[in-house]
Amino acid sequence: MRSRFIKHFDGKTGNVYTSPGRINLIGEHTDYNGGFVFPGAVDKGIMAEMRANDTEDTVMAYAIDLKDRVDFHLNDPAGPRASWARYIYGIAKEFQKLGVPVKGFNIAFAGDVPLGAGMSSSAAMESCFACGLNDIFGENKVSQWDMVLAGQATEHNYCGVNCGIMDQFASVFGKAGCLMRLDCRSREFEYFPFKPDGYRLVLINSKVKHELAGSPYNDRRNSCENVVKHIAAKHPEGKFETLRDCTWEQLEEVRAEVGEEDYTRAHFVLGEKDRVLAVCDALLEGDYETVGQKMYETHYGLSKEYEVSCEELDYLNDLAKENGVTGSRIMGGGFGGCTINLVRADLYNKFIADATKRYEEKFGIKPEVIDVVIGDGSRRLA
Ligand code: GLA
Repeated sequence: MRSRFIKHFDGKTGNVYTSPGRINLIGEHTDYNGGFVFPGAVDKGIMAEMRANDTEDTVMAYAIDLKDRVDFHLNDPAGPRASWARYIYGIAKEFQKLGVPVKGFNIAFAGDVPLGAGMSSSAAMESCFACGLNDIFGENKVSQWDMVLAGQATEHNYCGVNCGIMDQFASVFGKAGCLMRLDCRSREFEYFPFKPDGYRLVLINSKVKHELAGSPYNDRRNSCENVVKHIAAKHPEGKFETLRDCTWEQLEEVRAEVGEEDYTRAHFVLGEKDRVLAVCDALLEGDYETVGQKMYETHYGLSKEYEVSCEELDYLNDLAKENGVTGSRIMGGGFGGCTINLVRADLYNKFIADATKRYEEKFGIKPEVIDVVIGDGSRRLA
């Protein structure tokens, strides 16, 4: 990266920052519903070299993996067109809103978190750039939570995804060896040391690219908000901000008026909210069978109720079941990407061999196997 930074700009070096992608053991589509999530950062992410370039607002950016160079101006209200450059522009603009005097800078970046695999490569970019701008222009005064929120606002305001806060949170706050249980309503969280004795956590990337920009992700969020609106209208005495505040009975009350699609989506979210807590309890007792069973239930819900799975991911889930894997489910926003699998160490080799062979036979694509190592969050490296 450094050699590219030197070559593409003025020969000087900058500071180096990194931020990770994430896994999520359980708790999907609960973050924007005020529920719980249970992510951890991974040992793969985005790395960027950055340096102020003494211009008022010129950003010179080089995406090393794409071999793509884009220069743009922070004062240009339209921002750059290239989707990757919009993350840089977005974070810089959000930092300016926070009062950080961001001026022109040079940046080159690269990554080893697979793109579009549901491992939050975009949040890794946002928090990496945020970490750099905070250091270079902000005297590191921007808090970790404000970095998280700037990343989320970048998605909302510049990338067209109305995401929650799980991914940016995990990328900024990650800690080696620990999962984190985050209450997305209060933003309180706890680190959970995660060392499942006798088990391994492995991702299988279907290689179906998951793409959240566009309607399907936002549609689901709208369904959830619509249900909350109807419940709130029926109960003027209560305070209903998200599905977190709603009960199963209240959901039943509005079933006919919101329609089956919105009802079924909200039904998934209420179930998922409970499953995260059940998994945390089970983990504390070392009860991995229950953890795994809840993961399968989540997969079923994501596939049949929330409808964010696809044939390839459902097949990977079936293969896990057939191989006696303790728990398996689609991970992240959906529409492609990986399954996350909790597998007994003694079954690991057989599972991986069988699943990769049969998946390739059926779809003609070699799936990628990614062993999970839980790593640290955003930081300066050099
Ligand atoms: C994407 C979003 C997150 C979250 C997940 C689903 O990763 O960025 O905010 O909603 O989908 O759990």
